[in-house]
Amino acid sequence: MKILGIETTCDETGAAVVEDPSTHSTSSVQASSGLKILSNVVASSVELQRKYGGVVPEVAAREQVRVIIPVVQEALTQAFGPIRKRNSRKFAYPIDAIAVAHGPGLIGSLLIGVETAKSLALVWDKPLIAVNHLIGHIYANWLTVNSEPQFSLIALIVSGGHTDLVLMTGHTKFKLLGSTLDDATGEAFDKVARVLGLGYPGGPEIEDLAKSYQLSEASFKLPRPMINSKDFDFSFSGLKTAVVNRVMNRELSIKEKAEIAHEFQRAVVDVLVTKTINAAKKYRVKSIVVGGGVAASSELRRRISDAGKENNFKVFVPSKVMSVDNGAMIAAAAFYNFKKVEPLRISANPGLHF
Ligand code: KG4
Ligand code: ZN
Repeated sequence: MKILGIETTCDETGAAVVEDPSTHSTSSVQASSGLKILSNVVASSVELQRKYGGVVPEVAAREQVRVIIPVVQEALTQAFGPIRKRNSRKFAYPIDAIAVAHGPGLIGSLLIGVETAKSLALVWDKPLIAVNHLIGHIYANWLTVNSEPQFSLIALIVSGGHTDLVLMTGHTKFKLLGSTLDDATGEAFDKVARVLGLGYPGGPEIEDLAKSYQLSEASFKLPRPMINSKDFDFSFSGLKTAVVNRVMNRELSIKEKAEIAHEFQRAVVDVLVTKTINAAKKYRVKSIVVGGGVAASSELRRRISDAGKENNFKVFVPSKVMSVDNGAMIAAAAFYNFKKVEPLRISANPGLHF
């Protein structure tokens, strides 16, 4: 069975074809294992957004209208080769279903993916599956590993718009344990990068700068907000403000900036790792999975893996390519959450949550 996944929740336009070689028809509701990515195409408007230092929704959506069809076409061509019978009324690409991220995200961006997927599903007479983008980030972990995550598990979702801890007791069984009360993790990286005069997106820029700081301990400590709170919520705006106060009205050398980047990254990762391990212990889970753009952070990948080993949890982190927004993760989630919906009943849902 092969699913075309479409992702347009923020500034990326992604389309991918993912196959589950063990299932053969659309009647199958659950994939087994070993999903195979046949193609994964992502067009990003990041170069356009860079000059604004963040995502301008209108700019993202305009770019997505321009590229959505070529991106879908490219994903299908990479998976199956050029269309065989151009004039045939019979659809020539052997996909079994279409999956689309219908939220959360920017309304203008979401509409482009959702309306495209609806149109294709109607014209090609294929089942349409609406996928929560955040669940897509979790299922990126079913695409890049040799072994599958075992239930129950704790999922840490860290992206530009979200920071969530979720308990999963099985496929389709999600319980939100906690979220950020203010800034999302990626948002904090992006804002701190801006304060330090770095580019967008901030995460990779901070990571690169922090690497150039050779000492293991910074000469000052930034706060680790809510690290000892008993709940599973997060807060990053105070940490961001602490950086702003340190930088304000000062001419910083590159070495000083590197020290701030290093300590900021550490503070964020300390909080994320501590709370994730606390949740894993409390709910006595088998696995921990991480998803979202911030999962591309080398510091987070290393530290969560080490902490998992120490505490006997199996840790899964997607490849860096699968951590950031893409269509393959949306298709992967659809295999395990195969709920066919009448195409016309699906609509973009910017505030969608668990
Ligand atoms: O999941 P994603 O691609 O888009 C959203 O759904 O928001 O996440 C994008 C976020 C950005 O805020 C970016 O700065 C962050 O992921 N990010 C990183 C790294 N790479 C991307 N944050 C920290 N370290 C990184 N290496
Ligand atoms: Zn995302």
